Amino acid sequence: MSEEQEKPKRPQRIFSGVQPTANIHLGNYLGAIKRFVPLQYEMESIFCVVDMHAITVPQDPKKLVLQTREVAAAYLAAGIDPEKSIVFVQSNVSAHAELAWILNCVARMGWMERMTQFKDKAGENSERVSLGLFAYPALMAADILAYHATHVPVGEDQKQHLELARDVAAKFNNDFKAKGFFPLPEPLIGKEAARVMNLQDGSKKMSKSDPAELSRINLTDDADTISKKFKKARTDQFPMPETMDELKARPEVDNLVGIYAALAETTKEAVVAEFAGAGFGLFKPKLADLAVEKLAPVNAKMRDYMDNHDHIDKILREGAERANAIAAPILKKTKELVGFFS
Ligand code: TYM
Repeated sequence: MSEEQEKPKRPQRIFSGVQPTANIHLGNYLGAIKRFVPLQYEMESIFCVVDMHAITVPQDPKKLVLQTREVAAAYLAAGIDPEKSIVFVQSNVSAHAELAWILNCVARMGWMERMTQFKDKAGENSERVSLGLFAYPALMAADILAYHATHVPVGEDQKQHLELARDVAAKFNNDFKAKGFFPLPEPLIGKEAARVMNLQDGSKKMSKSDPAELSRINLTDDADTISKKFKKARTDQFPMPETMDELKARPEVDNLVGIYAALAETTKEAVVAEFAGAGFGLFKPKLADLAVEKLAPVNAKMRDYMDNHDHIDKILREGAERANAIAAPILKKTKELVGFFS
């Protein structure tokens, strides 16, 4: 028998997370949450509300609790089944913090310094941001590796963090002579809407922190607001493109076509073909109607879950127990490999 055949087959497992910072938006939904739903039927799945990541920048403690429930509500409203998947809050499972410390000692400063998200968030201010913001990707690696997760569905902006998680896993396995202990997690990045852009500026990604409300669709926006924001989205004076090449040179239009494709579960090619040469007077209302049709039920369910938060809290507490049952033995083994006394 070859070495390959002898290896026990590792179960495939999904892990992903969303920060409970204000303004969960269409980018989070199309780039991540909506994609979690079919994946949960393919692999064992764990979905986390990453509150420890949220506090890398200042948060209002009262709002943080509400925002934590809001992300959980978005998971459930989108169709994540808490009987099937594990849904929980990061700070409720101590393995995340404990493994993060070990991985802080594995990751190299040089690797962390190259993280573009840190550079973007810290800006000119890198002396004043928290140490946690710098260590953020090592905590993210811990989230994934604590469960030996093999696949991580995320938007494109998390790709570099996933590469770091792979580097940290490989270095740990090598340093502690534990070949294959941590799997090297694979990012799962969608074909459409992997990077939803700002509705007013096609060069910036849609983000929770943009002060301009018109820049993003929040998952809590009502139908009128969704329609208004799409109708006011920036475009240009030309009609809808006829080819994909033409689309590439028009970032704002490319973004709207990508959003349409992701909502309609089709491709950008198909959307370009359908609307080739049409005016935005036709396309934008169609996009707005489609978005309302797809998002209104999610919005309504989110409200129901938020109004009845005992139900969410119960799901999150049970989820934490189930998550802990997976992470605890992996953490125990990690500590043994490191040489911690027990
Ligand atoms: P966060 O909370 O910023 O975003 C949650 C998810 O939404 C995706 N996303 C987008 N996708 C498309 N277009 C956009 N404009 C857009 N903005 C955000 C993100 O890629 C992400 O998938 N570091 C992560 C949270 C995290 C995590 C993890 C993810 C912590 N630990 C472990 C996976 C595995 C983050 O900040 O996501």
